[in-house]
Amino acid sequence: KGKRAFVAGVADDGGFGFAIAKALAEAGASVCVGTWPPALGIFTTILRRGKLDESLVMSDGTKMEFERIYALDAEFDTFEDVPQEVRENKRYKEHGDISIQGVVDRMKADFGEQPVDIVVHSLANGPEVKNVLLETSRKGYLGAVGVSAYSMVSMVQRFSPIMRQGGSYLSLSYMASERVIPGYGGGMSSAKAALESDTRVLAFEAGRKYGHRVNCISAGPLASRAASAIGFIGQMIDYCKVNSPLPEALTSQEVGATAAFLSSPLASGITGTMIYVDKGFASMGKAL
Ligand code: NAI
Repeated sequence: KGKRAFVAGVADDGGFGFAIAKALAEAGASVCVGTWPPALGIFTTILRRGKLDESLVMSDGTKMEFERIYALDAEFDTFEDVPQEVRENKRYKEHGDISIQGVVDRMKADFGEQPVDIVVHSLANGPEVKNVLLETSRKGYLGAVGVSAYSMVSMVQRFSPIMRQGGSYLSLSYMASERVIPGYGGGMSSAKAALESDTRVLAFEAGRKYGHRVNCISAGPLASRAASAIGFIGQMIDYCKVNSPLPEALTSQEVGATAAFLSSPLASGITGTMIYVDKGFASMGKAL
């Protein structure tokens, strides 16, 4: 009750971030989101035009409102890190400081010294995701790891001081971190492996220093915008449907519900953990 969440990586109603934001709102939290500047214009336009109204309806019939929509580019830790040409880009310049620290400072200015209880990292980007690892450049690999994994480290560093005692962090991973998923290239598999390992180390460090928890959901495939851009998501969904203990496609709501649980005091004993929300697929050892 009375908790505030920040969900990074929401730009439409088709991904995990939106479903997590909604599940947190259903559980009574105020929800702020962070949106990548190149996607922010379209997101606010479709919101304004009512194109998301159906998805925003909560179980009590009211419409979910985002408390704030912050511009966030998780590639940058502070405004000093943002190159001049990015600052001047037409999708960035009106938003000022779009760095991770920029969002932290804005939340402090908007709500006070310790304005947040829950932070969710639901973003990833791999510029060379369509290249197999054997053909991934150093720049592509480090780009994927920087945006998709280091950004979580940076968020835990920077949000922890403004998070109320007993706060919760959550990120989204994928089984390609631990098993070979052909097609998930560009160092994205490496980024997810880093994200999962960092979950454990950050849980220890942020637990001891602040009393915060850090967990991770390893989700099954969902045809979000990001996943559809990779190109083989339909095939992955069909494969999982055929080969999982629960043979229906995973819904984003199922991930949202688990995220709300992990972010709540019901999960006060859970930290440093990765939970599969994948219809059981990860437990299988042989395709049907
Ligand atoms: P999505 O497209 O809804 O979310 C990804 C978001 O990341 C987008 O809103 C995009 O604008 C944002 N983003 C990209 N680069 C950014 C940057 N530099 N700064 C800030 N935001 C940035 O897609 P989805 O699939 O819901 O992704 C959410 C998380 O779930 C990601 O970590 C993804 O790897 C993970 N995941 C997705 C699976 C899937 O099959 N869709 C399976 C398992 C994990």
